[in-house]
Amino acid sequence: MKVLVATDKPFAKVAVDGIRKEIEAAGYELALLEKYPSKAELLEAVRDANALIIRSDVVDAEVLEAARELKIVVRAGAGYDNVDLAAATAHNVCVMNTPGQNSNAVAELALGMMVMAARNMYNGTSGTELKGKKLGIHAYGNVGRNVARIAKGFGMEVYAYDAFCPKAAIEADGVTAADSAEALYEQCDIVSLHIPATPETKNSINEALVNRMPKGGILVNTARKEVINETELIQLMEKRTDLKYMTDIMPAAHDTFSSKFAGRYFTTPKKMGAQTAEANINAGIAAARQIVGFLKEGCTKFKVN
Ligand code: 3PG
Repeated sequence: MKVLVATDKPFAKVAVDGIRKEIEAAGYELALLEKYPSKAELLEAVRDANALIIRSDVVDAEVLEAARELKIVVRAGAGYDNVDLAAATAHNVCVMNTPGQNSNAVAELALGMMVMAARNMYNGTSGTELKGKKLGIHAYGNVGRNVARIAKGFGMEVYAYDAFCPKAAIEADGVTAADSAEALYEQCDIVSLHIPATPETKNSINEALVNRMPKGGILVNTARKEVINETELIQLMEKRTDLKYMTDIMPAAHDTFSSKFAGRYFTTPKKMGAQTAEANINAGIAAARQIVGFLKEGCTKFKVN
């Protein structure tokens, strides 16, 4: 059995070593494709792979068509919007994610971005503190919960809204459950996005919603760029010169954001929320173990298609 790790954004070496150990202990072979220059290399590499470990790498119908021997794809991470689930099902390929494994890393980055914005991008001027500020967590999943835990350590007042999480579960963590997304944005000085990219959430963070934020509002996006209505956010930030946008996913309209909103817009060059050795080890090894469990015992825990 051949397991291919295809990661355009490579894991830390220590994580690859850990993955290799798991795969070889099961008697399988590990192949590695990192930082590939184009899809052609991926199409070639998947040809004889029986299992595939990916990150944000796109696995579409063309890749699945080329991967004739493929039985399972594990997205080492949370969001699987980069995998064509219908095409995978049509090819009889099992798709899994590794929920929770990289969520602390993403949460730490979100808090780091909040500090950076509150301190005026570290430009030497007098900023503000997170202590006592109201933080709104938009979607209370694995990352949202970690953000809440860390934010409480900063002395923030933590609110959350999640259409799919019962209010009681939010309140059990000592977090105030908002009645709606609108109420969350109205109540909070900082909003941190943790919603997945789905047909329902795409473009949902729009002018009407963000405009509800109080003066000096900070929007932090460590989720997906697709959830932002970029045209409307640009329009709003032109009118509301008090708003800041911090993102770990470079917007399609990055040039516009960066030229118009210097000092109140920041993006990482490449999504790096999950780029820690710990998250790479956790997600990578979980992916390897899920593949072994599936191929040897038929275990389908974490299957998403
Ligand atoms: C996830 O969905 O797990 C995060 O967005 C991390 O993505 P990455 O593995 O591409 O860094």
